[in-house]
Amino acid sequence: MSDIFLAALVSGAFAGFAVDVSLYPIDTLKTRLQSPKGFLASGGFTGIYRGLGSVAIGSAPGAALFFTVYETSKFYTPDNSLGHMMSASFGEIAACLVRVPTENVKTRMQINSSNSSLSKTVKQILKGEGVRNMYNGFGITLMREIPFAFIQFPIYERMKLLVSTYQSEPASPIQSAICGSFGGAIAAAVTTPLDVVKTRLMVGEDIQGVKYTSVGDTVKRIVRDEGRMTLLNGIQPRIMWISIGGFVFFGAYEACKGIVGNVVGSRKREGI
Ligand SMILES: *[C@@H]1O[C@H](CO)[C@@H](O)[C@H](O)[C@H]1NC(C)=O
Ligand SMILES: *[C@@H]1O[C@H](CO)[C@@H](O)[C@H](O)[C@H]1NC(C)=O
Repeated sequence: MSDIFLAALVSGAFAGFAVDVSLYPIDTLKTRLQSPKGFLASGGFTGIYRGLGSVAIGSAPGAALFFTVYETSKFYTPDNSLGHMMSASFGEIAACLVRVPTENVKTRMQINSSNSSLSKTVKQILKGEGVRNMYNGFGITLMREIPFAFIQFPIYERMKLLVSTYQSEPASPIQSAICGSFGGAIAAAVTTPLDVVKTRLMVGEDIQGVKYTSVGDTVKRIVRDEGRMTLLNGIQPRIMWISIGGFVFFGAYEACKGIVGNVVGSRKREGI
C-alpha cells in the first residue's frame, strides 16, 4: 500500500467520523423538516441523537472508501477540474455502497418519535423486500452526491490553488478547511431538492401511508400535494451543517494527512 493511499484512508475515515458525530443533531433537525409528517410529529427537538449509532458504524468505512477511490483515481484521470470531478464521482459510488444502508436506518430512526432501537429498525426495514430495502434511495443518493461533488470539489481544489499561488506555498490546513467549507455551502444549497426526495424515498411513504415508487413519482406528488417550496425544506440546517462539516472535514483531513505523511516520512528517513 503506498503512503499517500494509507494517509488518505486514515485521514478520510477520521475526518468523516468527526463530522458525522459532532454535527449529528443538525442533521436530525434537517431530516425532520423534510419528513412527510412534518417537524413536530417527527420528534421536534427531542431525541436529536436518535440513529447516531447507525451513522457511526457507516461513517468511517464510507469516508475511507471515498478517499481511497478519490485519491487513487486522481492518478489515472487528468489533473484538472474534469479529472477531479470524475475521481470524486467514483469515490461517491464506492462510499454509497456502505452509506446508503446506514442512511436508511438513520433516516427512519430520526423521524420515528417513538423510542425505537437500532435492531428493531433494521428488522423493520428487512421485513419488506429484505436486503433490497436497505438500498432504498440508492439512485437518488448518487443523483445528489455526484452533482454535489461536481460543485464542491472543483471549488475546493481551485480555491486551494489560488491560495497557494498567491502566497507561494501550499494552503495550510485552516485555509484548506475554509475552501472546503465554501464549496460545500454552495453545493448544499443547490442540491437541497434532491436531498428532500432522498429523505422521502428512504422514509418510504407519504403521510397517508401511500408508498413513493420512484424519483419522478416523489417529485410529482410533493409538488402537487405540498407545493414546490417543499422541495427546499431543511435548506438552512443543510447549508449550516455542510459548511461547518466541510470546515471540520477538510481541516481534519489535511492536518491528519500531514501527520500521517510525517510519520511515514520519518520512518523512511530512519530506515524502518
Ligand atoms: C429509550 O430507549 C433506551 C434503550 O432502549 C432507554 O435506555 C431510554 O431510557 C429510552 N428513553 C425514553 C425517553 O424512553
Ligand atoms: C417506529 O418504531 C416503532 C418501534 O420499533 C415501530 O413499531 C414503528 O412502526 C416505527 N414507525 C415508523 C414510522 O417507522
